Amino acid sequence: SGAPKPRLTFLGTGYLGSTYAACFAELGYEVLGMDVDEAKIAKLAAGENPIHEPGLDELLKRNLASGRLRFSTSYEEAAEFGDVHFVCVGTPQRADGMAADLSYIEAVVTGLAPHLRRPALIVGKSTVPVGTANWVEELAQKYKPDAVDVHVAWSPEFLREGFACEDVLRPDRVVFGVKTDWARQMLYAAHKALFELAATEDREVPVVVTDFATAELVKVAANAFLATKISFINAMAEVCEASGADVTMLAKSIGYDARIGNKFLRAGIGFGGGCLPKDIRAFQARAQEIGAGEALRFLHEVDLVNTRRRNRVLALAADLLDRPIGPAGPDFSGVRIAVLGAAFKPNTDDVRDSPGLAVAKALAKTNAEVVVYDPEATENARRELSTVAYAKSMTEALQGSALTCVVTAWDEFRRADPAAVGELAAERRIIDGMNCLDHASWIAAGWDYRGMGRSV
Ligand code: UGA
Repeated sequence: SGAPKPRLTFLGTGYLGSTYAACFAELGYEVLGMDVDEAKIAKLAAGENPIHEPGLDELLKRNLASGRLRFSTSYEEAAEFGDVHFVCVGTPQRADGMAADLSYIEAVVTGLAPHLRRPALIVGKSTVPVGTANWVEELAQKYKPDAVDVHVAWSPEFLREGFACEDVLRPDRVVFGVKTDWARQMLYAAHKALFELAATEDREVPVVVTDFATAELVKVAANAFLATKISFINAMAEVCEASGADVTMLAKSIGYDARIGNKFLRAGIGFGGGCLPKDIRAFQARAQEIGAGEALRFLHEVDLVNTRRRNRVLALAADLLDRPIGPAGPDFSGVRIAVLGAAFKPNTDDVRDSPGLAVAKALAKTNAEVVVYDPEATENARRELSTVAYAKSMTEALQGSALTCVVTAWDEFRRADPAAVGELAAERRIIDGMNCLDHASWIAAGWDYRGMGRSV
């Protein structure tokens, strides 16, 4: 339609909101990023990006300079500025169980709605339990001024950390959960530039228009599927370990079947991050509430397989170091262990629910002297785990180590020269927790190598 470009706000400028704000300004929209955290907003307004995300710094700086991107801590300003308001706040796991904490969503909707003065669309992007959109709609109706028309829609996001800008600008699909024609039209208008970009690149962005509940479920279903895929291959790794088979060959072979696909089949120390672990738990909690708990019972197993992988690293370490595992776990006193990695995956400084950091913590509990090195995540890791030492370089971490454990698949580790690394280490023993090294070259350089789900 010929409708003018709607002005957009992104409420909550964490990972999701700051990336979206910068990317949609880049697409040509007038954008306001809003957050109640004054320090965070001051940083963003100065072009400083609080997270490590490839490409984001540049997008922020360019669009701040152009004036298309602004930041504020005021709901009033956001309400006055925007036609379409995207809710991008977090929904962390509650301290009292597996369910999602919706208090930030409530704060944003009740903070914004009273200030709205013209027709507005509130769009949920956060990952939420099914049913949340209806509740947001009720909240919005209750808190908005009587004379103002406010509509609600749900449009989940699927961005991956490390590829966040790319995933926002070039999504595999967009999902619009709507109840009214006006909401649907506004959402199309708010994404028009995204579709135009696709057209210039000879792509198409599939649009799924559906109801609230389906839109909410698409997101958690997608993450549950991904988590299941990883736990499936990690379960196969356990069977491979018991039978002498090789899970990397197995994954490669089943992955050639296009129905299975070769992605997300890397066995290792399990999935982590701020999304997959908490999302499968919140999904189970919600399913239970609505009487569908049985349908998701398998996700409990998915979670168990996932956390079991961390113990496997300890068992391999005990084996390599030739130390018995007593009832209180192994005792590695006097052993210096280099842990390479801390981020939950490469190309991010995020350590939320990081399996690698959990391994470092477990190793520290064995009385070993643990030295962790991560190219980006040291600062965040230090805040989470203080019972280990942190090295400034890979060289410093490896110096004199009797065992090396790779727990994040950073390129720096994959590219390392096994012979040179061997010169630094006291003993050439290595556990490749993410099966990311070229094991033949490490073995050729004299290393006692152990991977996950394989007999080497
Ligand atoms: C995940 C989803 O992939 C995104 O689509 C989704 O939008 C996002 O959560 C979210 O809900 O916001 P992300 O948490 O950035 O994205 O990380 P992934 O790339 O999915 O990796 C998750 C974990 O799985 C990492 O710890 C990674 O090392 C692990 N993983 C991944 C494996 O162990 N094996 C694999 O084959 C793939």
